[in-house]
Amino acid sequence: MSDTIDNLMHESRRFAPSADFAAQANASADLYQDARRDRLAFWATQARELVSWNTPFTRTLDWTNAPVAKWFDDGELNVSYNCLDRHVEAGLGERVALHFEGEPGDSRDITYAQLTAEVKRAANALESLGISAGDRVAIYMPMIPEAVVAMLAVARLGAVHSVVFGGFSAESLRSRIQDAAAKVVITADGGWRKGKVFALKPTVDEALTADGGAPTVEKVLVVQRGKNDVAWDASRDLWWHDALSSAAAEHTAQPFEAEQPLFILYTSGTTGKPKGILHTSGGYLTQTAFTHKYVFDIKPETDVYWCTADVGWITGHSYVVYGPLANGATQVIYEGTPDTPHPGRWWEIVQKYGVTILYTAPTAIRSFMKLGHEIPAAYDLSSIRLLGSVGEPINPEAWVWYFENIGGAHSPIVDTWWQTETGGIMVSPLPGITTLKPGSAQQPLPGISIDIVDEHGTPVGKDEGGLLVITEPWPSMLRGIWGDMDRYVDTYWAKFGDKYFAGDGARFDQDVDLWLLGRVDDVMNVSGHRLSTAEIESALVDNHIVAEAAVVGAADETTGQAVVAFVILKARDVEKITPAEASAMLRQHVAEKIGAIARPSRIFIVSELPKTRSGKIMRRLLRDVAEGRPIGDTTTLTDPAVLSVISAQVH
Ligand code: WTA
Repeated sequence: MSDTIDNLMHESRRFAPSADFAAQANASADLYQDARRDRLAFWATQARELVSWNTPFTRTLDWTNAPVAKWFDDGELNVSYNCLDRHVEAGLGERVALHFEGEPGDSRDITYAQLTAEVKRAANALESLGISAGDRVAIYMPMIPEAVVAMLAVARLGAVHSVVFGGFSAESLRSRIQDAAAKVVITADGGWRKGKVFALKPTVDEALTADGGAPTVEKVLVVQRGKNDVAWDASRDLWWHDALSSAAAEHTAQPFEAEQPLFILYTSGTTGKPKGILHTSGGYLTQTAFTHKYVFDIKPETDVYWCTADVGWITGHSYVVYGPLANGATQVIYEGTPDTPHPGRWWEIVQKYGVTILYTAPTAIRSFMKLGHEIPAAYDLSSIRLLGSVGEPINPEAWVWYFENIGGAHSPIVDTWWQTETGGIMVSPLPGITTLKPGSAQQPLPGISIDIVDEHGTPVGKDEGGLLVITEPWPSMLRGIWGDMDRYVDTYWAKFGDKYFAGDGARFDQDVDLWLLGRVDDVMNVSGHRLSTAEIESALVDNHIVAEAAVVGAADETTGQAVVAFVILKARDVEKITPAEASAMLRQHVAEKIGAIARPSRIFIVSELPKTRSGKIMRRLLRDVAEGRPIGDTTTLTDPAVLSVISAQVH
């Protein structure tokens, strides 16, 4: 790891903003100055400028109940109104909000007026199903406009959505529905992916019936998309189109307190149980709108913005739904995979809609690099003027490839560091201001206070690695873990008391630019998605042939990290099944338990695992084995010889 980082830090290319870009940039150096002069006044100004309040706030931050912040808490607003009605009222109803591109090639342009009308009907439909402020609604959908409509309709009622990524299994969906005690589930029959319809409704059926089901769920609303056959429980299931067409067209958005919960989004932690990250309204909307405006330099009148994230992840919440729509932007949403029906599909979409701003993940960029620059070169990408990256460190090679082959060697790249927990971007260059450094996320945004400390919380020097902490509360910070405030305090605040511990390693260089060094806990980052080693281990040991399992994230050229598992079989099964059969069966088992994204890329059947005297599995050493490196310090192992046994079994 440290070799790679040293190489990264020696990256010496610099890209100063062009005079043309700087002249038209939304950002100016004043932002940093204003925030430095008075951080809270700065955020209050952003909240007043970017958000419409039914009741203006007079208090900016209340931190007396730390670590649970209240921002703008005596103000009232409606988040859905901010993303919709106010643009229509301002005469922008005919502006396209969503250019939807379906994977089979169908497309729809949806204006702000149409989106508002659709959300009003959906809100009325949900209300008639008994949803009111504070109730939870689970959303399990493909990447189609109705997913956005569903989220905004729930938000409009002051209810709380919990979007579960459509790739998760029935069991993962059920545990999330149960944890949030959702009353309604919104899903689709199926969606398009890789040239086929993948069914979603059967997974919901299974989640709601098998293994005790989810008794809190009263109704399931089903969008028709895949046209696949679905089973129907007439007492529970309703077609979305029927519910909307019989709902009233008008719906007046009611104001809610700034701290009204907006959504729960589950993310992997260091234990087997996912954490329901809770976000609220006013502060979240302020920071997502602010970052969307300045980091992406959005000009809503002329830009066509495309963030490739699915709404099942935080990036889809903050930079497909809330930030862009609060700013009245026009954006593309695409249902399918980048290579269907051909490897140039994304670039064809950029050309078709004249995309000007593209925000995606390093793993996607690296897979395009592998396919070759001829593929994007066959399309007209000259509309692009700004690029973004998120989810994991972007290596300088991928950065430069992206810059040259997608951005026409003139579009700034914003490498944005943030997390599900932070709600919005925290560290990023500001285009037009910052001289770009490939591989570095560079500077905390105005109003954000970041430091790098050692194990004791003492700030480290330049060029010294340490732990990334956030030293002051920020508007879009999480307000807790749903149903488990102790875990919230333990996970993020117990280590340093007054600083938020992000779980990432980082280093400042001599210019005080920030370099992210990856997770320091047992969380993996596969294709920019967070997976927990513990969660996959518990899925593995749940299988009847497994005695013990250890999972590590091993470096992978395309996906950043890959899931690699080391498994000990139960003695009675060792003779009955070949390692290849066991491995195939267990990969499938994990996909069924958690979802295909968690399926290990490799499973090694071994006879022992390296453990400390206290019985803790030394994952660091297994990572060395998986990456084919010389094995590190083994002095704390009960039996150092076990590693040569494992290595021999693996290689
Ligand atoms: C990693 C995604 C380096 C980091 C928005 C963080 C990054 C985790 C970057 C959060 C980046 C995200 N450079 N690492 N630009 N962006 N990460 O919650 O490890 O899915 O803690 O949020 O992704 O992942 P999450």
